[in-house]
Amino acid sequence: MGETGLLVRGVGESTDVVSKEMYTFTDRGNRSLTLRPEGTAGVMRSVIEHGLDRGQLPVKLWYRGQFFRAERPQHGRYRQLQQFGIEAIGSDDPALDAEVITIADDGYRSLGLTGYRLELTSLGCSKDRGPYRDLLVEFLAGLDLDEATRERARLNPLRVLDDKRPEVQAQLTDAPLMMDHLCAECAEHFSDVCALLDANDVGYLLNKRMVRGLDYYTRTTFEFVHDGLGAQSGIGGGGRYDGLMAQLGGQELSGIGFGLGIDRTFLACQAEGLSPGPVRALDVYIVPLGEARTRAALLATELRRAGVRTDLAFGSRALKGAMKGADRSGAPYVIVIGERDLEADLCQIKAMDSGEQTAVPLKDVVHHLKELLP
Ligand code: HAM
Repeated sequence: MGETGLLVRGVGESTDVVSKEMYTFTDRGNRSLTLRPEGTAGVMRSVIEHGLDRGQLPVKLWYRGQFFRAERPQHGRYRQLQQFGIEAIGSDDPALDAEVITIADDGYRSLGLTGYRLELTSLGCSKDRGPYRDLLVEFLAGLDLDEATRERARLNPLRVLDDKRPEVQAQLTDAPLMMDHLCAECAEHFSDVCALLDANDVGYLLNKRMVRGLDYYTRTTFEFVHDGLGAQSGIGGGGRYDGLMAQLGGQELSGIGFGLGIDRTFLACQAEGLSPGPVRALDVYIVPLGEARTRAALLATELRRAGVRTDLAFGSRALKGAMKGADRSGAPYVIVIGERDLEADLCQIKAMDSGEQTAVPLKDVVHHLKELLP
């Protein structure tokens, strides 16, 4: 949740996100608050408020959480969505753009995804925007558009390029595009980013017509698109936002970031028959027999304090039932402590994949497991 004014200034008044999709309400102190529709504006606010930009630059941050947009729900489009995001603030070096994009691409690859593409463009700098906007407004004025679209062309002409209606798209074939009107510095910046992505072996397609739903973007802007999702194909996106920090009351610092849509990334995995989980939750499962229960509980505490993810069988289950629990737990190692082991201060550590069992002194269990675990 955030202060409404911050989100309006950050995301942009004329965007759909602000004008149609925010959950805004007044609190008891008569303040206007909004369930956050995205994370970047809030991260900037936090950087400014806590002076995180006063140390070494760039500041690199990540976040994950719930975001809220009052969109019409459909497959892959939710009113409560989840994002994972990264932001790097304080450098306009093209190497930072390439780093952020490569991390994003590696993230999708690490899930095993292959059916996505990275679309890339440059939206230029604030100096490029004015003359380009004039060109676009002039072009749009010559088209046959309805009143609402004319109004949109007046408020935010770029957004008209994103109009999905075929009768509008047909008229936009010759529209001037920002990529063709970059200043020399922005053109060089963009070509450096592309060269670094090539060197990192990150494939991309230029999409000169890309329009993002948030207004803060400048220069490098990108989207990851998956074809297996239907209409809601964007599984992540991001870009530079060189004026955002100053606009929100901070220093004149540039930045770049990326937001991964967790819900849609899961759908993409599903579409490709991939299972991103289950992530192994346990390293070891302890099965105590008879009188060994108290000692097992102490061992569990000792292991947890040493950072080993541990669970144990409770109640007085017989060995067979407890081993079934061990199997279901998914832990790669099981420790069995029988009464005779206890007398000898020993336990049996069983590797679940090979079935191999080793007798280990109880005092050495932590050390022994630390050696075994990755
Ligand atoms: P965004 O493109 O608006 O960017 O959202 C990022 C991702 O969140 C989208 O690609 C999509 O996967 C997911 N997403 C958005 N809306 C929905 C929805 N209604 N249902 C399900 N998933 C959704 C941002 O939010 C920027 N803050 C990203 C960024 C970070 N740019 C720079 N830094």
